[in-house]
Amino acid sequence: MTRITSLAQYHSEYKKSVENPELFWSDIAQEFVWKKKWDKVLEWNFKGPDVKWFLNGKFNITENCLDAHLPKHADRIAYIWEGNDPKEANIRLTYKELYEEVCCFANVLKKYGVVKGDRVCIYMPMVPQAVIAMLACARIGAVHSVVFAGFSAASLSGRIQDSDCKIVVTSDGAYRGMKDIPIKAVVDEALEVCPGVSSVIVFERTKSKVTMIPGRDTWWHEEMKTADKHCPPEVMDSEDPLFILYTSGSTGKPKGVVHSCGGYMVFTRYSFENVFQYEPKDLFWCTADVGWVTGHSYIVYGPLLAGASSLIFEGVPTWPDAGRFWQIVDKHKVNILYTAPTAIRALQASGLEYVKPYKLDSLRILGSVGEPINEEAWSWYNVNIGKGRCPIVDTWWQTETGGIMISPLAGITPTKPGFATFPLPGIQPMLVDEKGKEILGNGVSGNLCIRFPWPSIIRTTYGDHERCRLAYFATYDNLYFTGDGCRRDEDGYYRITGRVDDVINVSGHRIGTAEVENAINMHADVVESAVVGYPHDIKGQGIYAYVISTNDKKDHELLRKEILAEVMKIIGPIAKPDKIQVVKGLPKTRSGKIMRRILRKVAEGDVSNLGDTSTLLDPLVVEEIKSGRL
Ligand code: PRX
Repeated sequence: MTRITSLAQYHSEYKKSVENPELFWSDIAQEFVWKKKWDKVLEWNFKGPDVKWFLNGKFNITENCLDAHLPKHADRIAYIWEGNDPKEANIRLTYKELYEEVCCFANVLKKYGVVKGDRVCIYMPMVPQAVIAMLACARIGAVHSVVFAGFSAASLSGRIQDSDCKIVVTSDGAYRGMKDIPIKAVVDEALEVCPGVSSVIVFERTKSKVTMIPGRDTWWHEEMKTADKHCPPEVMDSEDPLFILYTSGSTGKPKGVVHSCGGYMVFTRYSFENVFQYEPKDLFWCTADVGWVTGHSYIVYGPLLAGASSLIFEGVPTWPDAGRFWQIVDKHKVNILYTAPTAIRALQASGLEYVKPYKLDSLRILGSVGEPINEEAWSWYNVNIGKGRCPIVDTWWQTETGGIMISPLAGITPTKPGFATFPLPGIQPMLVDEKGKEILGNGVSGNLCIRFPWPSIIRTTYGDHERCRLAYFATYDNLYFTGDGCRRDEDGYYRITGRVDDVINVSGHRIGTAEVENAINMHADVVESAVVGYPHDIKGQGIYAYVISTNDKKDHELLRKEILAEVMKIIGPIAKPDKIQVVKGLPKTRSGKIMRRILRKVAEGDVSNLGDTSTLLDPLVVEEIKSGRL
């Protein structure tokens, strides 16, 4: 694969990618295995939107992830699995073994009637079988929809219904630190309202007691015993969908972001190899869960396409103690570590005594993703983990972009703490003002847009193309709008400053304020609520909810507890508000619009200057909110 090895080469590749994107990407795409080459590299407009890459190219992504490596590297490790409990034996899967497991499971899916284009929901802990299930779908042309196993039954059923999944792949339970989570029970509850699901395949992980429904539920290990180890790859078109992944936006329920096979394949490998400067024999560890896009692109597809060896970790960074990450790094001699600022901050807060016992001398490169990294966390990571000798790549991207968009190339791009630095070749960022006018020059800030398509750009939101247009392509004419604010400093370095819409980023997880409000409003005693983000030392942002109750007499503590339970039930633990303030009214304009700016300022504790409140229906509300601030 075209590998950039110097800053000068980065600049020349970037120039080439902008001057002639078709030529640039077709050169890269040549390096994959195609059954039939594409007729045309790109067709696009952002009005529809309608973007197609490598038109009429035919191939299967799993042939590139697996079969392509077998002639020379069948015995190379694809994955080392480290369980939640440090005492549990590791699992090692070579490319050959992974190939066989994937083919076997693809045959199981076929046996249960899954055909090209069908949707398969995967709700699993971080075990190799989650990856195997994803690749098995891709092998037969089914579209996987992985749902993070921390989401509630209600969230899961909403996603299953929205994409009309036929099969659910899950496990009996999941270990996370001290917890043993009953995953299968969540699936059972979700499926009470999903009549379209005909089969559930259950991987045995915790051996906990589960109810198996005859005719619907079957065990993974039983099925795999008799399945064939070979499964011919389904021939896919570049623009056939590869997966759906739900993500929160500023309005309504989560959207099913759809990625297609060809462009996603080309971009994930290109970005993986260049950003992380992966070398054969390196062990790469991305600590994300496969339930998020980071897991899709940099645990599964990017590394496998590159023939890399990766680590999969089932547990959490703080169990049995806050040294777990570092113990794993030393144990397996991890060379490249890719994690989130929230984990870095949590481990930093635990103290250096958890880092000191470990050598960490195998580490070569460090990465960060998911949220802005504050300078303090960046420096702590740099000094205490990288020992000042490992370049840090602060990678900015999104579920919708499919792969890393703005990031240093490790060891090549000179870094600055908190800056994602420069766009990858092929990525054309642009800053605009509120009206969509381009903000030129350096030393400026604005809303971050992308003006030209890249291969792994979102193709649609499942079942509702208009929603995709409205969310990303309608704010500004002819631009993809990211929803992020961004600064370009005097040297042209990009720094992502955070969301400019009603999305909050809690521990690197995207949460729509409207979604949380809807969940809170389900409580019988709540008339109305408003949710905003506020700065949180560990999570980056915390969730602050203002709630109006109908029941004056109800104890506020009890109401808070019940609201938390409601949010857990409807969304899951990740969306639980950190603070719930019971208020008598919300600051509204005369037209009835909630002035979130004021609520944000109060939540932040910045009440001295609330700006213009003259348009408020009842300015007294603000005083009450200020005095009751938590
Ligand atoms: O606000 C940006 C933030 O995370 C959002 C995307 O979230 P999601 O789709 O869940 O994907 C996360 C993993 C790719 C962005 O709109 N974000 C992501 N990476 C960074 C970031 N903010 C600042 N710096 C980053 N490196």
